Amino acid sequence: MLDLSRQYAPIREEILAALAEVLDHRQFILGQPVAGFERAAAEYLGVAEAMGCASGTDALWLALAAAEIGPGSTVITTPFSFFASVSSILRAGSTTLLSDIDPVTFNLDPAGVEKLLKQPQTVPIRALLPVHLYGQCASWPEFARLGAEYSLTLIEDAAQAWGAAWDGVSAGSLGDIAAFSFYPTKNLSAAGDAGLVTTNRPELAERMRMLRQHGMRQRYHHDEVGWNARMDGFQGAVLNVNLRYIPERNRLRCEAALRYHQLFAASGLAESGIYPAHGVVLPKEIAGAKHVWHQYVIRSARRDGLREFLTERQIGSEIYYPVPLHRQKALEFLGYPEGSFPEAERAAREVLALPIFPEIRPDEQERVVGAIAEFLS
Ligand SMILES: Cc1ncc(COP(=O)(O)O)c(C=O)c1O
Repeated sequence: MLDLSRQYAPIREEILAALAEVLDHRQFILGQPVAGFERAAAEYLGVAEAMGCASGTDALWLALAAAEIGPGSTVITTPFSFFASVSSILRAGSTTLLSDIDPVTFNLDPAGVEKLLKQPQTVPIRALLPVHLYGQCASWPEFARLGAEYSLTLIEDAAQAWGAAWDGVSAGSLGDIAAFSFYPTKNLSAAGDAGLVTTNRPELAERMRMLRQHGMRQRYHHDEVGWNARMDGFQGAVLNVNLRYIPERNRLRCEAALRYHQLFAASGLAESGIYPAHGVVLPKEIAGAKHVWHQYVIRSARRDGLREFLTERQIGSEIYYPVPLHRQKALEFLGYPEGSFPEAERAAREVLALPIFPEIRPDEQERVVGAIAEFLS
């Protein structure tokens, strides 16, 4: 599914040198390695401020806490994402409202969000938290319009979208605040847990710096109840190295995605509709979006059998996500029965992520498509 050894082997010496520097200067928490990465990351994204933190989950929480989206406010997000998109809202003390996804992009559908915004709510809706799933931005102009019309804070869950953009504007500078994850499988990855929050609003940046350090502006003077959400120096050092390679790595991912498109088209398996019949529905890059192919996700009506068949042939695949968030045991209390979000529920039954990473070889992709053709024919 992903061979990280191919990513690290060519840069092993560079990584070791960066880690040795942290050790030599003993800047284990925040410090120069993290500050250096924050500057480079902000420049890369074209955003005013970037703050390193301990994980993508902490990044989401920091974003919500800094914008004072807590008890007494409701946040709308998607039921088809990683758990942290919702758990961070709950941890911030807010109420969660879910809205169904667009079946083509798997991202939050702005039309459904608008319907919710028009309905009376007991707890006022204060923020939208769209997720840029699989490396493609959620339909941003529509969310920006809704944000302006209803005076909402827009928080991007950009955990899967380093380098993605909408109309040339990077994920990470589209909304009021954005949260990134550098979990080791992400396009831009750390050697452990790490995350980043970005914003163009200096007052929010200042609050996030304070909140990630137990609410301290001055050492041992706590202005608010924050959290320990700091980034380690070692992670900052690794990220600084990996950031240099990200343009090339994202370019190679795009090439690999294009190769899958071509191989599926040539095999006659690719179907044109939204939902699969006998073949597979391929992922689409929509107008305005620059996709960075964190995942290459197909739909198949026989998804579970197909996955088993691939596993038998030692071909990796993954289901992101097999259970939509409203059907997770931990979130039963949100009160959404089966059938609440038909698109998310259908996607959970049909999606299958195929191996994609910068170093994947064309012959490996041919083997993947060949095996899928063998199963479906
Ligand atoms: C969409 C999404 N949101 C949030 C997160 C949380 O990031 P982390 O695992 O770094 O806490 C992840 C990654 O796992 C993710 O994919």
